[in-house]
Amino acid sequence: MLKLKQAGRFWEQFPDSRGSLGIAISEAVEVAVKDPRTRYCLGSVLNHVMLHQTIIGLEAIEQFKMAEDYPDIVIGCTGGGSNFAGIAFPFIGAGLRGGPKPRILAVEPAACPSLTKGKFAYDYGDTAKLTPLVKMHTLGSTFMPPAFHTGGLRYHGMAPMVSHALDLGLIEATHIQQLELFAAGLQFAKAEGIIPAPEACHAVCAAMKEAERCKQTGESKTILFNLCGHGHFDMQAYTDFLAGKLQDYEYPEAEVAMALSGLPNLGNV
Ligand SMILES: Cc1ncc(COP(=O)(O)O)c(C=O)c1O
Repeated sequence: MLKLKQAGRFWEQFPDSRGSLGIAISEAVEVAVKDPRTRYCLGSVLNHVMLHQTIIGLEAIEQFKMAEDYPDIVIGCTGGGSNFAGIAFPFIGAGLRGGPKPRILAVEPAACPSLTKGKFAYDYGDTAKLTPLVKMHTLGSTFMPPAFHTGGLRYHGMAPMVSHALDLGLIEATHIQQLELFAAGLQFAKAEGIIPAPEACHAVCAAMKEAERCKQTGESKTILFNLCGHGHFDMQAYTDFLAGKLQDYEYPEAEVAMALSGLPNLGNV
């Protein structure tokens, strides 16, 4: 286990690792606690961040009014949950208040599948176990994701509110392998002139699959997805994809089992 003042030295234990968001959070907390004038503010996962991001979905609802339409399916990628909650929660809220209930789909990487394969349990938000415990879908806070290219989705947990929404059956979750999502991202870039971030490619890929399904069944559906970021800083990943250097990663079952065995023991909670 990584200890305080050691999180940033994880490469000594994992020399081939690309790190994880859990480690990045630990490092940031370590820096913050050393300076009494510095505060650390989590940018995802926590509930207030989810609510802050709902401006995305609120704006989307207004835009749909202008277009005189409403989505049948709402899609977002999930790392810590903030862009997904941002676009999805206003539509869930509208549905709970008697409005239409679109299908809401969370899309995560197959190599770090916290919503689709994680445990709904209390866990730490960071690798060095410095944050408070939160109840979420987790692969274990010490889980080190394989070296896939979507940095922003390399996180062991999921926002408690997103986890709760899945538990209540208000949303669905799925996972995608990286070769498929880069192919989708490339197709999207050629069609739209926008290079999506690898994170966003998860939503792009799922939206394209839904559209393809509609084409086959002859259904007409309005699909809304969140293009949560551009890929201008991810050109190396696209270069590697085009050069055939990327690979898919199996779900790392043994590593997840090991990380989950270290979950905090809270009795019957
Ligand atoms: C472009 C982009 N999208 C999505 C994410 C995932 O975060 P979240 O699930 O909190 O939206 C990140 C994280 O760094 C990101 O950079």
